[in-house]
Amino acid sequence: MLGNFSYSNPTKLHFGDEAISFLTEELKNFGSKVMLSYGGGSIKQNGIYDDVINALKAAGKTVFEDPGVMSNPTVEKLYEGCKIARENDVDLILAVGGGSTIDYAKGVSVSAWCNDDPWKKYYLEMQDPDNKIIPVGCVLTMVGTGSEMNGGSVITNHKEKLKIGHVFSDNVMPKFAILNPKYTFTVPKYQMVSGIFDIMSHIMEQYFSGEDDNTSDYIAEALMKSLIHSSLIAVLNPEDYEARSNIMWTATWALNTLISKGKSTDWEVHMIGQAIGAYTNATHGMTLSAVSLPYYHHILPYGTAKFKRFAQNVWGVCSDEKTDEQVALEGLDAMENWMKEIGLVLNARDLGVTDDMLDGIADATFILDGGYKVLNREEIIDVIKESFKKN
Ligand code: NZQ
Ligand code: ZN
Repeated sequence: MLGNFSYSNPTKLHFGDEAISFLTEELKNFGSKVMLSYGGGSIKQNGIYDDVINALKAAGKTVFEDPGVMSNPTVEKLYEGCKIARENDVDLILAVGGGSTIDYAKGVSVSAWCNDDPWKKYYLEMQDPDNKIIPVGCVLTMVGTGSEMNGGSVITNHKEKLKIGHVFSDNVMPKFAILNPKYTFTVPKYQMVSGIFDIMSHIMEQYFSGEDDNTSDYIAEALMKSLIHSSLIAVLNPEDYEARSNIMWTATWALNTLISKGKSTDWEVHMIGQAIGAYTNATHGMTLSAVSLPYYHHILPYGTAKFKRFAQNVWGVCSDEKTDEQVALEGLDAMENWMKEIGLVLNARDLGVTDDMLDGIADATFILDGGYKVLNREEIIDVIKESFKKN
């Protein structure tokens, strides 16, 4: 394990088909005023809203509703949430939804009592909060981001054509998370597979970095194998509890900082994906699936040993009488077959990316240096153009 690091994760998880029964107890740890943040209304159709309201009532809370958190939450919605939280001096933000709602709740938590412009302070300048932070708890309804157990908060500014994530520290992570796999059964298939690829991408972003023998990589391989296995079951039967529960647990561990330990980590796929998201408002996981294959083919020569290991350990590629490069390429072919089988988007045009956006997307992409190759602007454009050739 390279480097020196500290590890802690303050989020308490309650997992299983009766996990909601822990919500009332958790709520007792906070004051009486709760801001209930949720998305566009799916929780009212599938009954999750009723479960949550019952728990809030049982805990004797005064509830301030904050509906309408959109996918890829915007800076305008962030300001709106800050107003509700501050005017009512809420004691807890309870986010009920997917990554968008939970990310947004974390954004409000640090921004409501911030006297500067939070977009500028937290997302452009990446400053740490130095004002009151409102605690966040969550009930997860859509699996993928890991937001339920991390400090990430991604906000989109359409006017500035920027989508930026700030990874806050322990003090912003959810205090608790309720994870009931059955709550995810009603997620539409497109969103479900998008979330599955988001998980895969989180693991790969951390795995494809470094050359040392590192426990984090072995954990990453196990998580990827479990995810691939369960994803194939879930696409055929979305109500397979075993598969959906495994996917949910994998998502949480894929991005709760555990497997980044001792790693430099890459995250360039996410940077390109977020820039595409800023231009198209496309579904997050699909922006990653559209660029991953061209990106990994592009960087493969700079990290062939790791791509060979990925092929062998994750995809079971046999290496007999093959060059390292052949084995590595077969691994990416196996990944492509899996991506097609579960129905992922491989072509960025299918997300609304047009040729005239390419320069802007390249400019909006942050260039990171933790992976096997530091890309330049032209290479980012090439990666997206390569995706245009996929079908
Ligand atoms: O708005 P509602 O009605 O809730 O509908 C949502 C939304 O349309 C729907 N949905 C959620 N649970 C459902 C359901 N529909 C039926 N039944 C349910 N049980 O699914 C749609 C997508 O939800 P959303 O929260 O937008 O998806 P996701 O969890 O993928 O979150 C995406 C956001 O998270 C950010 C992304 O950039 C994006 O903004 N990310 C956050 C990260 C983090 N915190 O660490 C890391 C990720 O890489 C990612 O960037
Ligand atoms: Zn992601």
